[in-house]
Amino acid sequence: MKRIIIAGISGFLGTHLATHLKQKGYQVEGLTRNRDAANCCEFPLQHWDGRNYGPWIKRINKAHAVINLCGISVNCRYNAKNRESILKSRIESTRILGKAIRMCINPPATWINASTATIYRDARDRPMTETTGDMGQGFSVEVAKMWEETFNELDLPVTRKISLRTSLVLGHSKNSALPVLAKLARRGFGGHIGDGQQMFSWIHINDFTRSVTFLLENVDIHGPVNVTSPAPVTNREFMFQLRKILRIRFGLPTPKLFLKIGAWALRTEPELPLKSRWVLPEKLTQHRFLWKYPFLDEALNNLFDYTQSEHNNLDKKIVIKSQQTRATHKTA
Ligand SMILES: NC(=O)c1ccc[n+]([C@@H]2O[C@H](COP(=O)([O-])OP(=O)(O)OC[C@H]3O[C@@H](n4cnc5c(N)ncnc54)[C@H](OP(=O)(O)O)[C@@H]3O)[C@@H](O)[C@H]2O)c1
Repeated sequence: MKRIIIAGISGFLGTHLATHLKQKGYQVEGLTRNRDAANCCEFPLQHWDGRNYGPWIKRINKAHAVINLCGISVNCRYNAKNRESILKSRIESTRILGKAIRMCINPPATWINASTATIYRDARDRPMTETTGDMGQGFSVEVAKMWEETFNELDLPVTRKISLRTSLVLGHSKNSALPVLAKLARRGFGGHIGDGQQMFSWIHINDFTRSVTFLLENVDIHGPVNVTSPAPVTNREFMFQLRKILRIRFGLPTPKLFLKIGAWALRTEPELPLKSRWVLPEKLTQHRFLWKYPFLDEALNNLFDYTQSEHNNLDKKIVIKSQQTRATHKTA
């Protein structure tokens, strides 16, 4: 059995990836800073602090691959303290994993490291691919650049390296943006944000785990890879599709000024929904990766299937109740 080490296994992406890899026949182990996690995780876990050597290093030797998905959430105000945590949690975990791999007598064949599609500039004129994309500016771009530089700084002769330039992943975890957007839509704020023309690149969580497995198994792919669906949409279209699936007829739009005030109140950054992320998966397409959910309506349909059946049950209950009420009236 091929042994895979996932750092950040306890997170949204890590949990789903670990389960998927296990289903595909891999032996999965995790690294976590949480000493209590061992009791609530089905995978063997090693404790680490994400920045220093420790007994966990022995597990890297002879592993088939290391996948690093560490990094505290960027959904916060970018004050000095949070900026430091966002940067450090990514750089330090990447650096120590690189050093651990370099120390191995039998190093892993592949090292896959998280990065982000936010590394590209705000693009409204043309899509960004791995070969044609321009780097952007600003704090989150600088973090992404330093993250990839740290990943690339060590020369590891026998280990293939891939950085995942992942777009927004759609899933039902509390760490995914989708439940937040759905909540806003249900409260009547599901209209477009800003002018609504900014592009929204996304990927279904199922296609995220499938594409990482694909990258693991296709040994001729290396370097940065855009992990995103091939059909990004505008923010206006995204919110429309979301309202449609949730059966919400109307959604108040959020003008830029309101968003700035709202983001301040919610302790987050307006950049997150306002930046135009127009990213296309050139490498995955060239290597003939097949998305299960290439289009947004299919992805949302799948993700809200449960909600939808709840709606249907609710509808049924309402029908039964009104039939019962009618029957009672007739008897009376
Ligand atoms: N979700 C998305 O849509 C998305 C899109 C693009 C890129 N990404 C990137 O992909 C990675 C995983 O995302 P996610 O959504 O799964 O995030 P998440 O749910 O917040 O999980 C993050 C993981 O990072 C670990 N971690 C946090 N701070 C750490 C530190 N200082 N040192 C070492 N480990 C630390 C945590 O592990 P323990 O607490 O168990 O140690 C946790 O498992 C992140 O780097 C994120 O920026 C995510």
